[in-house]
Amino acid sequence: MTDLDATFTVDFQPLGRRTRVAPGTTLLEAARQAGVGLNAICGGGGTCGTCRVRIMDGEVSPPSNSRAEDKAMAEGFRLACMTKVLSDVRVDVPPSSMTAQQRAQVEGLERVVDVDPFVRATDVAPQPADLHDMRADVTRVNDALRESRDVLVKRWDVHAMRQLPQMLRDHNWQLRVVAKDTEAIALLPPGVSALGLAVDIGTTKIAAYVIDLESGITLGSAGTMNPQIAYGEDVMARIAYALNDDGHLAELQRVIANGLNELTRQICASIERDPANIVEAVLVGNTCMHHLVLGLPVKQMGLSPYLAALADSYDLKARDIGLQLAPGASVHLLPNIAGFVGADHVSMVLAAGLHDSDLITVGLDVGTNTEISLAGNGRLLSCSTASGPAFEGAHIQDGMRAAPGAVEWIRVIDGEVRYQSIDGAPPVGICGSGILDGIAVLRQIGILRANGAMVADSHPRVRKGDNGLEFVLVSAGERGAPRDIVITRRDVNEIQLAKAAMRSGVEILLSEAGLHYSDIQRVIVAGAFGTYLDVDSGVAIGMFPPLPRERFVQVGNAAGTGARLALLSRSCRDRAIEIAHRMEYIELTTHPRFVEVYADALALP
Ligand code: FES
Repeated sequence: MTDLDATFTVDFQPLGRRTRVAPGTTLLEAARQAGVGLNAICGGGGTCGTCRVRIMDGEVSPPSNSRAEDKAMAEGFRLACMTKVLSDVRVDVPPSSMTAQQRAQVEGLERVVDVDPFVRATDVAPQPADLHDMRADVTRVNDALRESRDVLVKRWDVHAMRQLPQMLRDHNWQLRVVAKDTEAIALLPPGVSALGLAVDIGTTKIAAYVIDLESGITLGSAGTMNPQIAYGEDVMARIAYALNDDGHLAELQRVIANGLNELTRQICASIERDPANIVEAVLVGNTCMHHLVLGLPVKQMGLSPYLAALADSYDLKARDIGLQLAPGASVHLLPNIAGFVGADHVSMVLAAGLHDSDLITVGLDVGTNTEISLAGNGRLLSCSTASGPAFEGAHIQDGMRAAPGAVEWIRVIDGEVRYQSIDGAPPVGICGSGILDGIAVLRQIGILRANGAMVADSHPRVRKGDNGLEFVLVSAGERGAPRDIVITRRDVNEIQLAKAAMRSGVEILLSEAGLHYSDIQRVIVAGAFGTYLDVDSGVAIGMFPPLPRERFVQVGNAAGTGARLALLSRSCRDRAIEIAHRMEYIELTTHPRFVEVYADALALP
């Protein structure tokens, strides 16, 4: 065997996942191959420092000398994306580098809707075949369906048809035929209800629900990280990855399809049902996630004027995108509005009822990208802001996602700054809701000026750090913390940029509708981060308009709720199309007032 033929084993601990790779493969590539969800915010560019791992054993390439790697090295880590495998290697992946085990929001609004799905299941019991009745199986079932007058079947999905002869004979000439419009798409044993799958594919997280299409009841749900995150944190990084190589778009498509299959299997196992009983799925996501799950090109979305390839709602077979449901199952995707306002926002508007609200309502779907809608004065307006990774803990010195050990809550109690970490685990970083609280608190106790600068000597915990003044939130050793956790001036700046983007989106929509923030009667805050953030902190730092607390409603995953509604109700699906048609999209970056409004919104109130 020559060196070129050699492969090495990479063993990822504490997960116990192993894979074999060629010499020179990076640890990030090996992690992807092994199915280890490693953070890679910059998509493997060696700049973000989120893919830190510890080499426990084996030979790897020398350090890259990049700033991010120098910093990681100082704490005993290497960057997985910059480190090549030169022998069998054992690697430790710290919790802060893992995409798994993080909080994904699946709870959302519960809305009552008449169950009227697009797919219909009909029980048939055709006459058993004998030498006097030699009709073909399909003819026999079609005749029985005609007699039942329940559904009219004009054609059969070939995959469903392939199952028919055996199913008929296995179940004593009784079965359920599931039809969509006039096509028979699936067969179920008698008495087994047809299931539907509703999925909200976020840039960071996925939430999925399995629903009984006859009763409308949600039987099971689960959330997980979007496995594409290993290819870049935000939409732009995914687009860049897709452009890099001819095979990358297909790879991203495959990765999300596998992730959806895994999540569906997991939910079905928990409710003791078979994914093959799922006959229709409704998928929503931002426009980029929508395109990537379909395998549509995303290049045009990365370039001005940032256009979608497809805006209309779309139906296709689940198997065409690699989803393992009933063999003839169909998939419906709600319409997109623009390159950066996608079907997930349409879904959120549908679930929150913005389109038919009598109240002047602002709806914010807070995520890596925040989509904002305003319903008022008979208009429905929307825009999108790049609020992003800062709320997910990225670009924050000690930031991390909402995982165990992340500081999620900070308050001043009896004059002391107190904090709480997720699951009470030893603090290892700060997640989005924590950093928001932190800035509100630092402003409240006079450490921050309105422009975000820290005041020297304003508090015993303010000290000079490598990048200017910083506030020591947790000292090493405190409650088992492995190191100091700080809030820096740069962190404050990142949040100022993100909150200003969001606030200026709201202000510009209001001015387009001829309204003032004091006219807002209701603010709906949706999305995973939107669920956990403290509204008072959001108001305190100027992210939200200064309105009474009771006007804010945190609704959880409203996009997931909208997907469930569209799965269960034909009229909701029609309404989603109406919403997309009615919605007036405002492009913020070219809006004449954007720069001025944004500059004003940067200050801390
Ligand atoms: Fe490795 Fe960003 S530094 S992915």
